[in-house]
Amino acid sequence: MTKLDQIRAAESKLLLTTYERFPVLFTHGEGVHIIDEKGVRYLDLLSGIGVNALGYSSPIIENAIAVQSRKLIHTSNLFYHEGQAELALRLTERSGLDRVFFANTGTEAWEGALKLARAHAGLLRSEGKSIGTKFLALEQSFHGRTFGSVSTTHKAKYREPFAPLVPGVEFVRFNDVADLRAKFSTDVCAILVEAIQGEGGIRPLSQEFFAEARALATSTGALLIVDEIQAGLGRTGKWFAYQHYGIQPDVITVAKPIAGGLPLGAVLCTEEAARAIHAGMHGTTFGGGPLACSVAIAVIDHMEKTNLLAHATDVGDYFQAQLRSLAARHSAIVDVRGKGLMLAAELDSADLAKEVVSQMLKRHIIINSTSDTVLRFLPPYILERSHVDTAIAALDEILTEHAGAVGASQTTAQSAGGPNHG
Ligand SMILES: Cc1ncc(COP(=O)(O)O)c(C=O)c1O
Repeated sequence: MTKLDQIRAAESKLLLTTYERFPVLFTHGEGVHIIDEKGVRYLDLLSGIGVNALGYSSPIIENAIAVQSRKLIHTSNLFYHEGQAELALRLTERSGLDRVFFANTGTEAWEGALKLARAHAGLLRSEGKSIGTKFLALEQSFHGRTFGSVSTTHKAKYREPFAPLVPGVEFVRFNDVADLRAKFSTDVCAILVEAIQGEGGIRPLSQEFFAEARALATSTGALLIVDEIQAGLGRTGKWFAYQHYGIQPDVITVAKPIAGGLPLGAVLCTEEAARAIHAGMHGTTFGGGPLACSVAIAVIDHMEKTNLLAHATDVGDYFQAQLRSLAARHSAIVDVRGKGLMLAAELDSADLAKEVVSQMLKRHIIINSTSDTVLRFLPPYILERSHVDTAIAALDEILTEHAGAVGASQTTAQSAGGPNHG
């Protein structure tokens, strides 16, 4: 029995069966590669679902952990430590928001944002304003797995087993401005969006829809809350994905890449929204601990110093262009979209998407599929063009073999400089 077999057997008896894992046992990593127990190196284009922004074994992260772990790993939120204000300053400067609450995970940050919206509406009511308690969320949204988060997440398979959910949530058709207008009223305390939907298939909000959400929320005092947990902190080439639109939210949530792989989440909000929160209303034991904060500070400072956002834009644009030239050769790719290093190639069949993910894994390249038909790429920000070329060549081979449909525009794509493996 291999070590992997032993672990699989033990997990199958001991763990809740929440995950369908691929049969790979990872032991360590280096740069953009994660390495299994036999020493096989995998090119990781998913980075632990959008977490490992600086890749694996980053000396920046290792050093921050080493230094801080020798000083203080945990205190509690009853006392001060050196990290929270320093990190909050970096986040507020980059987001244009005023105040921060630190949590541990994405879903916990999202819960904090929902509670803030309800509390803020309560404050406005106490000041004589007419505003209700309803949330408007979007179809295809994903905000996490705890009760508030899953109640504002659209997909039935995540919601239905846990009913009844948190009441007061209505879903708006994605990018449908008329539906948004029809469902918005003074009953609404917050409009909830991802600037680019992640799990929903890397779908960017339209400028018109985002602007209308901003205008409607402003008209009543409702909050515009943007979930930046997957798209935020540099992945799209700007610190936050909403910054591509020139629209300023009232509240945002961040998590995944913020502490380079350690769990940390945050809610950022305006001074106006923050008026609703007083001591004792909300809190956490672990959130914003010294270790996670010091690593997050090191990650953000390193991203700034090395101009990693510009790098993510450059390599992301290159990746997207290569996916487009692949799409020109393979009719099975029906759309390519995304920004920076948050990218998708949508295929014409869910079975094919599953097959491509599994064939990529056989070639030691990690991607995943979301929303059934969408191949999703969330690589570390340190990805280079040569890694993109490796991935595109593999996709080209796999699509040629498994989709069997090399499009008529092959010559055009090749002459435009796309890789030629068709
Ligand atoms: C947009 C978005 N919001 C919230 C979450 C939940 O984050 P976590 O899994 O850290 O709870 C995710 C996770 O994928 C996400 O992509």
